[in-house]
Amino acid sequence: MRLYVATHNKHKIREISGILPEFEIVADNPAGVVEDAPDFAGNALLKVEAIAARHPGEWCMADDSGLEVDALGGAPGVRSARYAGEPSDTEANNALLLKNLEGVDDRRAHFTCAIALAAPDGTRHTAVGRCMGSIALAPCGNAGFGYDPLFIPDGCTETFAGLGAEVKNRISHRARALAAAAEIIASPSGGAAAVDGF
Ligand code: IMP
Repeated sequence: MRLYVATHNKHKIREISGILPEFEIVADNPAGVVEDAPDFAGNALLKVEAIAARHPGEWCMADDSGLEVDALGGAPGVRSARYAGEPSDTEANNALLLKNLEGVDDRRAHFTCAIALAAPDGTRHTAVGRCMGSIALAPCGNAGFGYDPLFIPDGCTETFAGLGAEVKNRISHRARALAAAAEIIASPSGGAAAVDGF
C-alpha cells in the first residue's frame, strides 16, 4: 500500500521505511505549512491537511516530534528543531541543551512523536508514541540525527546514536507511534491511539 509522508527529513524517511516495510513510502513535503500549534499532534494535523490536499483518496501521513526535558519545563518541546534559533542547527541545539543542563542533576527527558493520518475516506486519525530516558553529560555515538547523541533511553546504557538504527527503530517514540498508525491503517475505525513508555 502506498503511504504519502509529509517530510523532507531523509533520516525520518529511512526510519519510517525501516519500521513500516510493508508500505511504499512516498515523500512529499508541502511547502508553506506554518507549524504554530501548541502541541505535537496539532502540528502533525496541520501538516497532514496540506499533504492530503495534494493526494486526495490516498493514505497520507505527517509527524511532529521532539524532545521534552523535565528540568527545563518541557523544553525544547515543539521548538526542538530550532531550539538554538533559525536556521535549524543540530550541533547548536545539542550544545545549548547541555549548557542549559549544566549542574542539573535531574536529567529526565522523553521524546514524543505524534502522527496524523488522512484516510482515503476523508477521516483523520492521530497516534502518539513516547520514549522515556535521560540526557547524557556529553554527546556520544554517530548514528541517527538530532538529539540522538544525547538521549539515553530507559533500560539502556548508551545513547540512541550509540545504540544504532536497529535498536532505535524497535524502541523509539517514532517506532511506537508508527506501530499504532499501522494499526489504524489496518482498521481505521480505531480513531486515536497512544503508545507510551519503554
Ligand atoms: P520535526 O518533527 O521534523 O518538526 O523535528 C523535530 C526535531 O526534534 C528534530 O529536528 C530533532 O531535533 C528532534 N527530534 C525528533 N525526533 C528525533 C529523534 O528520533 N532523534 C533525535 N532528535 C529528534
